[in-house]
Amino acid sequence: MTMEQTDHGDHELVDPISEEPGFDETESRIAVLGHPIHAMSVAFPVALTFCALGADALYWWSGDAFWARAALWAAGTGFLFGMLAGFSGTAELLLVPGIRARAPAWTHFVIAVTLLALLGCNWGLRLYGYEEAVLPYGILLSALCVGVVGFTGWHGGKLVFDYRLGTAKGN
Ligand code: HEM
Repeated sequence: MTMEQTDHGDHELVDPISEEPGFDETESRIAVLGHPIHAMSVAFPVALTFCALGADALYWWSGDAFWARAALWAAGTGFLFGMLAGFSGTAELLLVPGIRARAPAWTHFVIAVTLLALLGCNWGLRLYGYEEAVLPYGILLSALCVGVVGFTGWHGGKLVFDYRLGTAKGN
């Protein structure tokens, strides 16, 4: 923050980042008819991450191999859809100057990449025997993924609803 004098002689705090070129340009560029692709695609990895934990819990409870196979597919598709969501989010971060300039967008990137690494581990672990993988490490990883996906999604929501990133109006 720097102190600047206004026309009336008062002093006000100015964030130097707000002087960056394009600081107020926050409108999504990775969009279909104005609808941001990232916002549309994140629902899939979020839901599939919860499904993986649900399937693990049902396998633990019932012992039915069907649920272990369902957890393998939920973990795998959750990871792949998460990567797709990650690519659209990264393109948005790098291409839109007002998003690139804001620290919370980079915080979201770091949390999301951590999540993608965990989703990849949760899938990879199951590729060498999907039934044996569930207890205890599979279900523990699924529970950790649910916590981190909740944090990532909550923080992504803050970017949109608090900072107006991806929308036409920046502040
Ligand atoms: C890996 C790199 C990622 C980057 C750089 C990124 C970046 C962004 C940006 C810039 C926004 C603001 C809206 C927009 O401009 O489209 C956003 C919103 C959001 N992100 Fe990400 N994101 C990433 C991955 C993820 C992942 C993996 C998830 C969850 C699985 C996620 C969940 C969300 C959610 C829920 C929103 C709010 C969408 C809305 O309410 O409209 N992000 N993200």
